[in-house]
Amino acid sequence: MTFLRNRWYVAAWDGEVANAPISRKICGEPIVMYRKLDGSVVALRDACPHRLLPLSMGIREGDNLRCKYHGMVITPEGKPCEMPLTHERVNEKLTTPVYPVVERHRFVWVWIGEPERADVGLVPDFWPCSAPGWVFDGGYMRVGCDYRLFIDNLMDLTHETYVHMGSIGQKELMEAPLETRVEGKEVFLSRWMPNIDPPPFWREALKKDGKVDRWQVCQFIEPCSVIIDVGVSPVEADDTLESHDSGVRGFVIDSMTPETETSCHYFWGMARNFDIHDAGVTARIKAGQENIFNEDIEVLEGQQKNIALNPDMKLRVLSIDSGGAQPDEGR
Ligand code: FES
Ligand SMILES: [Fe+2]
Repeated sequence: MTFLRNRWYVAAWDGEVANAPISRKICGEPIVMYRKLDGSVVALRDACPHRLLPLSMGIREGDNLRCKYHGMVITPEGKPCEMPLTHERVNEKLTTPVYPVVERHRFVWVWIGEPERADVGLVPDFWPCSAPGWVFDGGYMRVGCDYRLFIDNLMDLTHETYVHMGSIGQKELMEAPLETRVEGKEVFLSRWMPNIDPPPFWREALKKDGKVDRWQVCQFIEPCSVIIDVGVSPVEADDTLESHDSGVRGFVIDSMTPETETSCHYFWGMARNFDIHDAGVTARIKAGQENIFNEDIEVLEGQQKNIALNPDMKLRVLSIDSGGAQPDEGR
């Protein structure tokens, strides 16, 4: 399998990258990241151009990394500025690849592909993660499955009934009709649940009794993100699927950056526009999401292992898979 190239991928939460180098494999490429003294992030191939020791094992010296094997010093531009024998002339041909990198919406994004094609305008628009009036927090997990299985999972919320039987499953989820729509390279999967009793989480957030309209709109964003617009509005507000800002609203953020063909980095969280100064609510949502996503991961890793054990069988597509498995024509 080849990964989609010439795309931005989430490589880390902003807070994960500090002065000490961290190593993460993205789309099969080992990458080392660290912050320069001015706070900006550097991303290099995690391999010394001499004998390929991981540079992440090296020692920070100013904005540079000194390799822990023979001591060559590599700059943020991926070039040596000091050779193992310090009197030796610097060999400019010894370089390590440099990755375009940008910080946006609380994440560090790395460009996988041809560096000259990197355009910050192409970073996926996770606007609720950084917009005024919203608060965003979440976590990270390494998951032993093909990132595309994760996209399937998130674009098919009928799985909530069984995988999340004890947590967020609600019978209206199965009853409400699903609408799938493709817009360019994005896929939307919408569910509008009019005039229902809100589940406890949303009743508390709305701080109001009575019937509500509830929605879930899953949006797939190339190459590997799904954001889910969720919330409730009081029925009397007459909100619609197209416009629903009268109640409380959140976005579940999921980005599944491929690590290898059978593993991925899962960056998850929730941005919300209610109780934004309440750290207790933030912590409770994060803990709740972590429990729910662990239920998904158990299923996804079980599925990945079983795909390998059953090479004579193939994955089939049912009507519930319309969000995750679109035909290729016209895309
Ligand atoms: S492997 Fe890095 S200097 Fe030799
Ligand atoms: Fe799930």
